[in-house]
This record gives sequence, C-alpha cells and structure tokens, in this order.
Amino acid sequence: MPENKSKKIGIIGDVHGEDKRLEESLSVLLNEGCQKIVCTGDIVDGVGCPNRSAKLLQENKVITVRGNHDRWIIENKARHIKKAHSLHDLTVDTLAFLKKLPTQATIDLGEIRILVCHGVGDNDLEKIWPGTDRLKALKSELLDKIISSKRYNYMINGHIHFRTMIHFRKMTLINAGTIAGDFWPGVSILDLETNQVHGYHFKDRKLKPRISRNLSGKNYTIWENTQSFTGNWDPVRLF
Ligand SMILES: [Fe+2]
Repeated sequence: MPENKSKKIGIIGDVHGEDKRLEESLSVLLNEGCQKIVCTGDIVDGVGCPNRSAKLLQENKVITVRGNHDRWIIENKARHIKKAHSLHDLTVDTLAFLKKLPTQATIDLGEIRILVCHGVGDNDLEKIWPGTDRLKALKSELLDKIISSKRYNYMINGHIHFRTMIHFRKMTLINAGTIAGDFWPGVSILDLETNQVHGYHFKDRKLKPRISRNLSGKNYTIWENTQSFTGNWDPVRLF
C-alpha cells in the first residue's frame, strides 16, 4: 500500500464510550484521506462500550492520549459520577490499553509540530478559555510555557467538550470537543494543505460536514498567551 502523505489530520475528541459514533468517525476520517488520526482520550464513562471503543482506537492506530476519566477508572476514583463505568466493565485488554496511554503525544511533520493532550500538557484537568459572557477567562501558566517554548505550531486538546480554535501569536490551539452527548457532537479535520479546519457533526447517527474555517484570519482575536486573555472573546466554533 502506498504511504499516505496527505496533510490531513483527523481529530476525534473525548469518546466517553461512544463506540458506534467512534466507528462512524473513523470511517469518515479514513474516507477523507487523513494521514493520521488523533484522539484526546476519556475513552470511558458514558453510555456506550468502552471495550469496543478501545479496540477501534487500537485497530485503527489512532494516536490516543489519556484523559482524566481514564486515569480515574485506573485509580478506581470518582466512580460515583453520572454514567461512570466500573473497573468490572473493562476487559483485561482495555485496562492494559488505558494504563499504557501517554498523557501527551507529538506529531512531527517536518516543519509542523503538533502536541496532542487531554487538558494542557501532562495536566489532564487544566482548562483554557479566553472568556465570554457565560464563562470567565481560564488561564494556564503551563500552556504559556508550552507556547513560549515555540516547539509546537498546533496543540490539539479535549476536556472542555467544545470544538473551537484559540489563536495565540506563536501557536494555535484546536479543541477537539467530544463525540458524546447532544451538544454538537462531532469531529474535525486539520487540513494543512488548504490551511483550514473542517468541522463535522452527527445527524441521525451519521457524520455530516458542517463548517470549514481558515486556520488564520484577520477576524480572529490573536492572544500573546493566556495571561493576555481579556474575558471578551467571540469563540471560533468548529460546529
Ligand atoms: Fe471528557
């Protein structure tokens, strides 16, 4: 089989057991010719099957990082939360897979480097938000260190379940959102050929194209780092 040299990265956010939606997501992203597919973790805690989800991610060589829910189930913590899976729900293989997941992964495409993580770097609980009327700004010294290291052009994370782009002068953050729940579940494609992000969303169990946004543009607010967040931001939605 010829090597896939497309410059499309498939982006799957938090899975939360949604094995059927994960299967559909993989099918669409592979069909679109994605060279690599990433997933921001949180495989467990939801309505579907975590074992089939873990199997699909492994079979399709998805670059997956560990979410806080994956860590919690390994540590047998926070099992009182809504729709929590228990350790007994997991096969030996799934538990081994979750334990082996890294907290972060790097994709090196030569001139482009991408950091994949769940929250920020190795902190799976950290949240970033420039601030809107509904939610005040959430800043992160850890993210500011990552930005100022200039090691990455893009960071792809999950955790907040809201598909968006946040533009910093030296790095663009893409939040992968989630394929679970009812609030615009879907996936994205980072297309480095056209310099766009394409957002897809679920409609009647099928994934449909929804929106394409340029990676950069004059209409976006560009922050220096999270300390420069003003609390006055119009989210660049990917749904
Ligand atoms: Fe999550």
